[in-house]
Amino acid sequence: MEKKENFKGFNKDEYVPILRDESITFLYDLVQKFQPKKILEIGTYIGYSASVLLSSSPNSTLDTVEIKEENSNLACENLKVFGGRVEVFCQDAKDFIETKCKEKKKYDFIFLDGPKGQYVRYLPILKELLESGGVLVADNVYFHGMVKMEGKIPHKHRSIVNNLRQFINDITLDTDFQTTIYDIGDGISVSYKK
Ligand SMILES: C[S@@+](CC[C@H](N)C(=O)[O-])C[C@H]1O[C@@H](n2cnc3c(N)ncnc32)[C@H](O)[C@@H]1O
Repeated sequence: MEKKENFKGFNKDEYVPILRDESITFLYDLVQKFQPKKILEIGTYIGYSASVLLSSSPNSTLDTVEIKEENSNLACENLKVFGGRVEVFCQDAKDFIETKCKEKKKYDFIFLDGPKGQYVRYLPILKELLESGGVLVADNVYFHGMVKMEGKIPHKHRSIVNNLRQFINDITLDTDFQTTIYDIGDGISVSYKK
């Protein structure tokens, strides 16, 4: 697995919204065990987690979606080594998943790491895109611990936190999924579709 310091666009002196180290290990092991055929990732950034997904499962292909052109260009550069196994889409994730849904596309592993406030809205569409027996993994479901916090949430984070609470509620109560939330990194949910 390539070091993140070697990725174009990585700056060790700035905050970079990349998967935390313990989450990387967790994701790598999960994908290695599962060996999916077709992976979807929402939120590419510069392609680091995409490279983790592709390195852990050598026969997988990956569609990854990123809204910012600058990031998606860097991701294309950083992921060149994987050749035709990966396609980077520079698009709003909601448009992308709605289109794929209409095309009846299916994935057997989905990694959700895009806009946190949208997870709950994406859920019904992602459920449709996921094959039976497939896995949906969502990162940052605790949103810096605030989702588990009691008391008043600062106004600027309130809607994201409420939406993530709703996401956790919906996915854990959905009997088509078997969900576990792990206290790893910033909280990771893993949901197996029956
Ligand atoms: C947490 S970062 C992804 C980090 C990456 N998965 C990793 O660990 O290497 C989230 C990314 O989602 C992108 N994003 C935000 N809103 C989006 C949207 N509506 N559609 C697609 N991508 C979006 C952001 O630009 C950002 O690059």
